[in-house]
Order: sequence, then structure tokens, then C-alpha cells
Amino acid sequence: MSTINSNMGNDLNYALITGASQGLGKFLALDLAKRNYNILLVALPNENLNILASEIKDLNVNVEFFETDLTKKENILSLIKWANTFPIEVLINNAGCGGSKYINDASEDYIDNIILLNIRATSLITKLLIPNLTQQPKSYILNISSMAAFSPIGYKTVYPASKKFIDFFSLGLHEELKSKNVTVSVVYPGPMKTNPDVSQRIEEQSKFVNAGVIELEDVARISLNKLFAGKTRIIVGKLNKFSRIILALLPLGTKIKILSKAVKKEIDATK
Ligand SMILES: NC(=O)c1ccc[n+]([C@@H]2O[C@H](COP(=O)([O-])OP(=O)(O)OC[C@H]3O[C@@H](n4cnc5c(N)ncnc54)[C@H](OP(=O)(O)O)[C@@H]3O)[C@@H](O)[C@H]2O)c1
Repeated sequence: MSTINSNMGNDLNYALITGASQGLGKFLALDLAKRNYNILLVALPNENLNILASEIKDLNVNVEFFETDLTKKENILSLIKWANTFPIEVLINNAGCGGSKYINDASEDYIDNIILLNIRATSLITKLLIPNLTQQPKSYILNISSMAAFSPIGYKTVYPASKKFIDFFSLGLHEELKSKNVTVSVVYPGPMKTNPDVSQRIEEQSKFVNAGVIELEDVARISLNKLFAGKTRIIVGKLNKFSRIILALLPLGTKIKILSKAVKKEIDATK
């Protein structure tokens, strides 16, 4: 853990973002700092969180960071002990992993990591920070699901199932916490070019999928605007909203077939 303080910012309002070193998490952290939140960054060790922390410090807020592997339960408990020394008003469960693979090519660790990070870390961190969040006059939880939560998909199998878990977990929690002044929202991002690996996978997909790609800065800004406006289910972008409607209308067997065929094509193209 490490601290970078500035003399500005609001001493009372902290936002904790997991998976903040790059991709969507980084842009969520930068946007929250621009909204005058003090920032708690969490990511794996040795991923240059100190550089991002310096960038955020220049926005005149306090920044602290905690480097740890969230697939280990004891690390989550240490993170919570540290995080509970700050008054937390916003929790963003962004850290997540996934990918596309034939199930026969997926190692045990690959499957374990998706389940431990996307499912266990999200639910444990949330559960353990709720006493802190409910001590604040008003607080917010934003969980990052995916458009992949709207259908089972062959060759991805565990990832969409984990994002469906986040969907159901968030909606149940929203119901349970609404009387406690905690707003719980879930965002379902479509394709985002967050790192070279993900960008390559997206480029292998159809023109339709590529047309739905939205800049990270915009996904972060729109998601936060809707979170603070109290919207429970957040879909960013017209094309993603359209896809959501089509996916709801298509028979289950048809949509599984279409989506799985597209992912298989993407895997075979990169083999
Ligand atoms: N990219 C897309 O197209 C897309 C679409 C829909 C939904 N999403 C979801 O959006 C979220 C962000 O995705 P992204 O593409 O921005 O991710 P990313 O660029 O791969 O970044 C993932 C973040 O999670 C952190 N992380 C990974 N494993 C971790 C672990 N075991 N312990 C602690 N931190 C860990 C990474 O830290 P390090 O940098 O330290 O490794 C990084 O900060 C994820 O939940 C993802 O499932 C992404």
C-alpha cells in the first residue's frame, strides 16, 4: 500500500476502484478524481499504479493505492482492513478477467481465475465494505458486468456465466440496500479496446461488433453519470441498447448459436 497526498480534495469522500491500473478502471478513477473524490486504487502488484496515482494527484485530490492479487481470499481481507481506515462513499468492482477458448484448451487456473476474481472477489469485497458504505450519508456501488451477461456463449462459457452472476448479485443487492441510502448499479459494457489482447480479439469480430466499440473515457463518464443519477441497469451506447433488445427478442437457442459461431471464428482466426 502507498500514499500520495495533496492538500486539496475532499477529505470525507473516498472512491475505491478495483482493477484500476489500466483499461476501464483507470478511466473511472480519473473521472471520479475530476469529480473531486479522493481515490483508492487497487490492482495487481508491479503494474505502475504509482504512475497513475501521480497523474491523479495532479487533479488535487488524495490518492492511495493497494497492490494485491484479488484471487486470494487472505489478500481481500488485508485490502478490506486497509480500506476501512477511509470513509468510502463509492465502491467500483471493476477488476475482472475472461477470454475466448475451447473448453479443452482452458487450464484449471484459467477457469479458477475467472470465478475467483469476477465472482468471489466482487461479492466478498462488497459484503465486507457495506458497513463502511452505510456509515456515509449516501453511498454508491457500481459493479461491472458485460453485454456477455445477456446470453450463454460457447467458447466463452465461464465468462458470460460470471457476468450473469454480477448482474443478479447487483440487482438483488440493489433491492436489499435501497432503504439504507446505498445506490447499487450494474453496467453492461459492450466491446472496449482496453489492452492489445482484447483489441485484437475485438478486431477479429464482425463489423457490427466493431461498430459498437466505445471509447473508455466515454464509457466511464456515462456510467458514473447514470450511477449518480440512481439508474440501476446501465447500458452505454445506442448500438449496445439495440443489441440488448435483439438479444431479448431472439429465442435462446438462436442467440447462443449466433454468438458462439462468432466467437469460434475469432478463436480460429487467431490460432
Ligand atoms: N474490454 C472489454 O471489451 C470488456 C467488455 C465488457 C466488460 N468488460 C469488463 O470490464 C472490466 C474492466 O475490463 P478491462 O478490459 O478494462 O480490463 P483490463 O484492461 O484487462 O484490466 C483489468 C484490471 O483488473 C486488474 N486485475 C486483473 N486480475 C487481477 C487480480 N487477480 N487481482 C487484482 N486486480 C486484477 C488488472 O490489474 P493489472 O493491470 O495489475 O493486471 C487491471 O487493472 C472487467 O470486469 C471486464 O470483464 C470488459
